[in-house]
Amino acid sequence: MAHPPSRRRFLMTTLGVGVTAGASQACWRHRHRCYVQPCPPTPDPYPPDPGPTLRERCDVRTLTGPALASLRKGVAVMKALPASDRRSWAFQAAIHGTTGSSADPLFNQCQHGTLQFFTWHRAYLYFFERILRWAAGDPALTLPYWDWSASPTLPEAFRAPADPAANPLYEALRKANDGSALPATVVVNDLDTALGQTAFGGPTGFSPGLEDSPHGAVHGLVGGPGGLMSTVPTAARDPIFWLHHANIDRLWNVWLNQGGGRANPSDAAFLDRAYSFADETGGVVTVKVREVIDATALGYRYCGLPNPRLVVHQQPVAASSPAPPVVAATSAAADAAAAPLERVEARPLGFQEERVKLNVVRANRAALAAPAAVRATAGEAGKVLLKVEGVAADDTPEVAYGVYLNLPEGDRTEEAARAYYVGTINFFGKTKADKRGLGHGHAHAGGAEFDATFDATKLVGRLQRAGRFDPDAVTVSILPLAVGPPGVTADQVKARAVAAAKAANVTYKRVSVLVTGEQK
Ligand code: C2O
Repeated sequence: MAHPPSRRRFLMTTLGVGVTAGASQACWRHRHRCYVQPCPPTPDPYPPDPGPTLRERCDVRTLTGPALASLRKGVAVMKALPASDRRSWAFQAAIHGTTGSSADPLFNQCQHGTLQFFTWHRAYLYFFERILRWAAGDPALTLPYWDWSASPTLPEAFRAPADPAANPLYEALRKANDGSALPATVVVNDLDTALGQTAFGGPTGFSPGLEDSPHGAVHGLVGGPGGLMSTVPTAARDPIFWLHHANIDRLWNVWLNQGGGRANPSDAAFLDRAYSFADETGGVVTVKVREVIDATALGYRYCGLPNPRLVVHQQPVAASSPAPPVVAATSAAADAAAAPLERVEARPLGFQEERVKLNVVRANRAALAAPAAVRATAGEAGKVLLKVEGVAADDTPEVAYGVYLNLPEGDRTEEAARAYYVGTINFFGKTKADKRGLGHGHAHAGGAEFDATFDATKLVGRLQRAGRFDPDAVTVSILPLAVGPPGVTADQVKARAVAAAKAANVTYKRVSVLVTGEQK
């Protein structure tokens, strides 16, 4: 496979960096042995990592004073431009989403809930970074990233000084200004779950999994009720959006670098999708996904992290899709497991534990009872999925709703509960407030109900091996977790969370456990 011609042209005209394939490849492979394995069987069409010629995006905590000043300057200059200028802060944010009707063909483009989530946001950040560099008048400026797993409180520079006139990185409509830490369930456990997936797509694959949580959950927890970060139409107005997404972009590389068959989609339909943005001249630029899927071609990498070699599938992905997962246990009466959701009554999720005993569906009991060892060898066909169906919310809840399987009753620490944790329900892009804000370019038909699907395979395996899993006694708990700032008592946090949960009006309809693959 040769370089697509459009890609070369793109590299030469807009990047001005010389990327040459060839001689250094073997050496580069050697240097980064750990992440290129297994090597692709045939030469792949992407150039080798040219190493130190790449710009580096680094952890915001490592930024020097001058680099931070430069970042602030770039943001301030963009904010001062008239909204009609494509390089302005307002225009750039509107490319992601708008609260009014979309007045420009570049508006409301963000890709959420599609397999282009990572690619679209990469291109979006890339052109934004070019504009920021221009605005700061600093050719060395790169976007830093916020590694919330390592540092779960909002970076200091975005909170202090708490004055938008003195600090262009400060945004008042943001809950995380209070210094509360993001819960480990979201920024550690959910990240582990997503990185552990080897499939890119599918019901619980890396892309949809990471997009929901940590990505979406962090959006909601940073913004809080009414916060800019909490809804798609407003998120990119908050300066922390760009650092959050640089981290998401970095984690895509982290995922690919793990190998083990992890790969991006590589079919022509996926790679030939084109998106339009604006660059630092204020002109419109159109790029294809294949031109931006490789960070090396865009001339950057993340500090301390080699860019992944992109493996192109040698065989087209099998045309036949796997059998749809079957319901093995459900909160509905067992004979109504497949009843249409419209006929199921919504139940409120307030600020108490919602504990649901599931009824086993006889016909699929054996699949749920299959020993962990059998399941482990079945790959994508041996998964246990947990699905919370028909979720709806008026507004972004301030609390995180964690989902647990077979959580023992009674007193337990947060730490102990985590042994039964499955995932957190994401509300970003899904609340009624979120839908209301969208311009007409995003006419979402129907109600604001959604399903949250989690991969519970590992947890079920662990419980089985410990002899603590009975397919006839499966319990699901949905547990609100309030995050409070330092120096505030647990009672105060609780009082606030109860009120916030009430205002958000979160409801769900049904909880089910599903099993993938053929049934024996
Ligand atoms: Cu397009 Cu994190 O949002």
